[in-house]
Amino acid sequence: MNRETVNILAIESSCDETSAAVIQNGKVLSNLIATQKVHEQYGGVVPEMASRAHMQHIVPVVDVALQQAGVAKHDILAVAFTQAPGLIGSLLVGTCFAKSYAQALNVPLIAVHHMQAHVLAHFIEDPKPEFPFLCLTVSGGHTQVVLCKSHLDMEVLGETIDDAAGEAFDKVAKMLGLPYPGGPMVDKLAAQGDALKFSFPVSEMQGYNFSFSGIKTAVLYFLQAQKKTDPDFIEKNINDICASVQHTIIKMLMQKLKKAARELNIKHIGIAGGVSANSGLRKSLTQLGEENGWHVYIPKFEYCTDNAAMIGITGYYKYLKQEFTDLSISPTARAAWV
Ligand code: KG4
Ligand code: ZN
Repeated sequence: MNRETVNILAIESSCDETSAAVIQNGKVLSNLIATQKVHEQYGGVVPEMASRAHMQHIVPVVDVALQQAGVAKHDILAVAFTQAPGLIGSLLVGTCFAKSYAQALNVPLIAVHHMQAHVLAHFIEDPKPEFPFLCLTVSGGHTQVVLCKSHLDMEVLGETIDDAAGEAFDKVAKMLGLPYPGGPMVDKLAAQGDALKFSFPVSEMQGYNFSFSGIKTAVLYFLQAQKKTDPDFIEKNINDICASVQHTIIKMLMQKLKKAARELNIKHIGIAGGVSANSGLRKSLTQLGEENGWHVYIPKFEYCTDNAAMIGITGYYKYLKQEFTDLSISPTARAAWV
């Protein structure tokens, strides 16, 4: 194979998905994701079980990713991996694997920040955003408004001071007796509900920051009060509760995105991260884009939730700038942007 062809093997293991991808010159050849089902019965991710499951999955997932891509090991030019943030035991598995693989192949190692990768998922396929680009990054652990000046030059303008938007979806789902992860289920039920049936408080934070702990508590107290008068309240109203909660979360997210777009005069706007799979959020962004003359970017579903393709595309841009790391690198559970 031509040595000019830049093949990157990418590994993602920050939470409960073991994923491997092969990226060739910035194009995805394969993107394998092994979702860990073991956590469902516990209603949330159990860190120790997550790292064990990563250990079981990582070798077969990488092998199949290479097979599907039709790329041989010796044609890999670099190994990219998620270095932060995430569950430390989970990150350790991907980091150790990536370090060993890069050393065995004698190729450079590229450390990737998971949240930067969620933003760069927009550069996997066309149409790609133009800079400056504003991205609302909403996942299970983060909620951020990010100003992207170039592929690797990003600034977090604001973020949540407590819970993330995905966490709010998951915690409300748990109160409603829905399985983990609750976000997709709330989304599904909300589609058949009345979003204006119940009203929940919208937090007013300074600048571009968010807070989602208030809505979680408000829903808890609301459900406790309603169940006192009608024990079947949740069963009877679940679609409307989901629709009303989703509506409130989206309202809070969109307020800050609109404010940032207006104040910075940016017209290229996107959403990223697991919660960007939400159909209400996707619809709301599309509508706002039409009203405000924005160029709107919404990733394909498979690139919204955790995946190695986004780690690979970030790795590719870092490869072009020769931003490599040495084998002394360790993962970090919490980290500012790299
Ligand atoms: O980005 P991601 O896969 O993992 C993290 O980096 O955290 O995001 C996972 C989060 C979970 O909270 C999950 O409930 C939420 O994304 N999520 C959704 C939807 N699909 C995933 N939330 C709302 N609606 C959805 N359709
Ligand atoms: Zn994520």
